Amino acid sequence: MESREVSNFPASRHAHYDHYSADQIARLDGFYGRVEQSMALRLRPWIEGNRVLDLGCGFGSLVDRLRAFGYAAVGVDKLGDFIEAGRRRYPLAELVLQTGEQLPFADQSIDTVILKDVIHHIIAEGDVSAFLGEIRRVCRRRLIVVDPNPTLILRLSRKLIGHVDPECSARQAEEVLRQAGWSIQHREFHEVIAFPLSGGYVGRPMIKSARLQEAVIRLDEVLLRLLRRCGLAPSLCWRYTIVADTSKHERLG
Ligand SMILES: C[S@@+](CC[C@H](N)C(=O)[O-])C[C@H]1O[C@@H](n2cnc3c(N)ncnc32)[C@H](O)[C@@H]1O
Repeated sequence: MESREVSNFPASRHAHYDHYSADQIARLDGFYGRVEQSMALRLRPWIEGNRVLDLGCGFGSLVDRLRAFGYAAVGVDKLGDFIEAGRRRYPLAELVLQTGEQLPFADQSIDTVILKDVIHHIIAEGDVSAFLGEIRRVCRRRLIVVDPNPTLILRLSRKLIGHVDPECSARQAEEVLRQAGWSIQHREFHEVIAFPLSGGYVGRPMIKSARLQEAVIRLDEVLLRLLRRCGLAPSLCWRYTIVADTSKHERLG
């Protein structure tokens, strides 16, 4: 497949973006939109302070959600067509197109930075220490990383649908965060059946009925509690969240 034209990305990084299209915003009207909303609720207790930056915000759905929760949220992304589609869809969300390596914010002006489904791209394609250093410059308190959990099921599913994407395990993510001076406070695994059944942005959505979608989201919570109780969440969940702070104190080994 020919690489998609992506402004601000060197040609060598284009391949991972071939599956990206601004049309994917339509997925947010379906089951995946509901799954995204429950992910935003899951993130909420981990957010510190009021000024929140969703870096690599894509269409800005999370920014809009956080704004509705009352946060002064801002989203930044390098893809101009995603930012434009996001601004049309979420007119109240503050969405900013990033054009250089520097973030358009003053030192220590952000309380919490969120990287949702972004770190695997940075590790595979960019200078992760420069990227995290820039986050450290603007952020005074907390960094939250959410990313796909590269389990056997995830890899197999990607093979089946021909979806190619770089991977970053929770351990790898924690390692790069530590190297950049962040101290890890919390790690959790989540998303059991609702996310795969929603199809995400690239898979086939499996459930059309709104009632059934609600039931699956509720069942997901029950299954998650069960998996956590038997210690299977790291091997079976589709995503992980890591919470890190700028302070020296580390809670997780
Ligand atoms: C998989 S998408 C995730 C989008 C959104 N966070 C979500 O969860 O739907 C990864 C996003 O990260 C953005 N991105 C990658 N590297 C970036 C960088 N250095 N600065 C800003 N955005 C970046 C991409 O343009 C893309 O929109």
